[in-house]
Amino acid sequence: MSKTGRASASPFALPTLLFAALAAATACVPKRDLPPDQIEKLGKLDHVMDVQATVADPQFSKIGKTSFTDEDWAAFTDMATRLKVTSRKTKEFSKGPEFDAFADRIGAKADALGTAASAKDAAAASASLSELKATCKACHSKFR
Ligand code: HEC
Repeated sequence: MSKTGRASASPFALPTLLFAALAAATACVPKRDLPPDQIEKLGKLDHVMDVQATVADPQFSKIGKTSFTDEDWAAFTDMATRLKVTSRKTKEFSKGPEFDAFADRIGAKADALGTAASAKDAAAASASLSELKATCKACHSKFR
């Protein structure tokens, strides 16, 4: 209980508090817009998941549409490429065979989305998006 101990701690109190407040405020908005080579380097499952949400959520809002723009097709191709990496990466944090099967399903449906985007097949793209979203939910209800 020395006076000096208290005095030396105080300069750090405010920055620490501000940092904690900022971290709490941004925690509910996962935004991790990473290219494939940086996804490969992630060391935590929740960071891989943040990438998936950042990449996939804006595209899931297009489920059910019957036509897409060139921008949409480009976004689907990008999503397919990156989800291939996240599906592989997810298995580095395996919780068993059933978990791995869900991760593989993301990879397979990402392939289907990529194929649909190359062919500009709107029905197939919408179906792939829908199946991807269902796979996210299925794994979450079991493992999250
Ligand atoms: C193989 C199973 C599995 C699949 C498939 C999966 N998730 Fe997850 N997800 C999890 C688990 C487990 C957690 C909890 C991770 C943790 O807190 O460490 C999680 C957490 C999350 C989170 C919260 C991350 C955070 O910062 O706390 C988001 C967002 C998310 N997932 C999005 C998605 C999206 C979008 C998809 C589909 C494209 C998806 N997930 C597919 C297993 C999965």
